Amino acid sequence: MTPPPMGLIIELTHRCPLQCAYCSNPLQMDPPASELETDEWCRVLDEAAALGVLQVHFSGGEPMARRDLERLVAHASAGGLYTNIITSGVLLDGSRMAALIEAGIDHVQLSFQDSEALPADASGGYRGGHARKLAAAALIRNSGLPLTTNFVVHRQNIDRVEEMLALGETLGSERMEIAHVQYYGWALRNRSALLPSIEQLQRTTAIVGAARVRLSGRIAIDYVVPDYYAERPKACMGGWGQRFINISPSGKALPCHAAETIPDMIFPSVRNWSLADLWNGAEAFARFRGTAWMPSPCHTCDRREIDWGGCRCQALALVGDATATDPACARAPMHYLMAEAISEAGRTDETIPRRFAKALA
Ligand code: SF4
Ligand code: FES
Repeated sequence: MTPPPMGLIIELTHRCPLQCAYCSNPLQMDPPASELETDEWCRVLDEAAALGVLQVHFSGGEPMARRDLERLVAHASAGGLYTNIITSGVLLDGSRMAALIEAGIDHVQLSFQDSEALPADASGGYRGGHARKLAAAALIRNSGLPLTTNFVVHRQNIDRVEEMLALGETLGSERMEIAHVQYYGWALRNRSALLPSIEQLQRTTAIVGAARVRLSGRIAIDYVVPDYYAERPKACMGGWGQRFINISPSGKALPCHAAETIPDMIFPSVRNWSLADLWNGAEAFARFRGTAWMPSPCHTCDRREIDWGGCRCQALALVGDATATDPACARAPMHYLMAEAISEAGRTDETIPRRFAKALA
């Protein structure tokens, strides 16, 4: 029997008022009519608690675009699950904050596009969005919840990382994330405009390192670097089918948010599978679990149970084969692809906005 997953990531909807060029939504989004109903999500939450899941992360798209978010938080909380919302904050007002507190929300993670309104609003494609986020941060703090601020950094805003750290401090964050864009879906489409130079990355790493020392004991800072400059890959999702179940708005259970890009895989739907059955019995979760599936050089590598061979979706996106060694690894036969991408970075500043989804599909 596989040990239970630690976390459940619920993508309530792919709808979102923002249009970020690095959006983690898939290129082909689930239409609103296909979204699970409230009672279906409640059943999934009950199954998660019974399976031994500890945390549920309400994500999207923008989870606050669902009017039943508070009901779902209350249901999860009553079932003993730790509840976290990952939000842009632009739909959070006083009455919804009060309802979320009443529902028993444990944590809110608030994302920012930049430290300043003008580039932030341009990046998110939403006029006035930055001001709404500042107001949302105040609501979260005044409600007594811990605040995590998440700044997504890339080539076009990375030179303001000091200002982002200062803003996170001013807002009263208990935890900050400085997270480089991860190149899947929309971000991969826009990689040339978003991937920073090595000089930008090194400068940012030094700034974050100094801030960690200065703010030690007051604010925890998580720093997520881009795979493209790495020697070794990340342990994506803590290993395929080992720590998380990600559920799409229409109810597909996935080992990670990008798994649907892998062809020839059938992902079970929570509409006709229980969480326990799909976790323990679905082929999609077993396919890349553990080390038996690994190619050379992973299958004899001393890091195979540390990074679990890296990221399957990145191997597919860059090598064209989900079973290949993640090219982020310096031992991978196709590691040179990373150097090629770096050499193409900055050729354009133009990004394809997400509103062109239909034209690209
Ligand atoms: Fe990880 Fe495979 Fe690279 Fe070893 S060869 S470090 S297991 S990706
Ligand atoms: Fe799918 Fe990494 S995003 S395995």
